[in-house]
Amino acid sequence: MDAVTQQPIVVLRGMQEADLAAVLAVERCAYTAPWSEGIFRDCLRVRYRCLVAEYADVVVGHGVMSVAAGECHILNLCVHPDLHGRGIGRRMLRRLLALARQDEADTAFLEVRASNAGAIALYQSEGFIEIGLRRGYYPGPHTKNRRREDALAMARAL
Ligand SMILES: CC(C)(COP(=O)(O)OP(=O)(O)OC[C@H]1O[C@@H](n2cnc3c(N)ncnc32)[C@H](O)[C@@H]1OP(=O)(O)O)[C@@H](O)C(=O)NCCC(=O)NCCS
Repeated sequence: MDAVTQQPIVVLRGMQEADLAAVLAVERCAYTAPWSEGIFRDCLRVRYRCLVAEYADVVVGHGVMSVAAGECHILNLCVHPDLHGRGIGRRMLRRLLALARQDEADTAFLEVRASNAGAIALYQSEGFIEIGLRRGYYPGPHTKNRRREDALAMARAL
């Protein structure tokens, strides 16, 4: 509990298998094409950096990053829609980048849907710049007319 505001504090910690049901619940309400449980399990198994954000002891966000050969890739960054705009996404991103520095990465990469203005604004404000466009990179929403969507590739030095 925050001593000044009496609000629960958001805590960041490593993701564990026991978190997966809660992580999937957040993932499914935040994305039109959510990751499967198997993808998260694989990320934990290969020891990617996987974080959760907890608010009042409830998992409300997650972040996943791979680090290898001096590069990190932010693979997932997600906050429950009810808690958007409270700085949780930025905190998780900064924590992931700090972990990447610890792991001796010198460059960070990510892809983001070209239509995802909120996430792009966050990444730009954290120093990421656009380095390319990947056409048809993302699956469309799960509707009949599921046109694939372009991704912006972004990067920053660490
Ligand atoms: C992208 C996401 C993780 C941001 O998390 P968040 O906790 O809402 O973000 P924060 O409160 O930390 O906001 C950080 C900055 O992001 C930008 N931002 C976030 N949402 C925004 C919106 N809807 N419109 C414009 N800018 C936005 C702002 O620059 C904001 O900084 P400010 O508050 O100083 O203006 C969150 O919106 C989310 O989970 N979206 C769905 C999943 C997703 O698209 N993830 C990104 C995959 S690449």
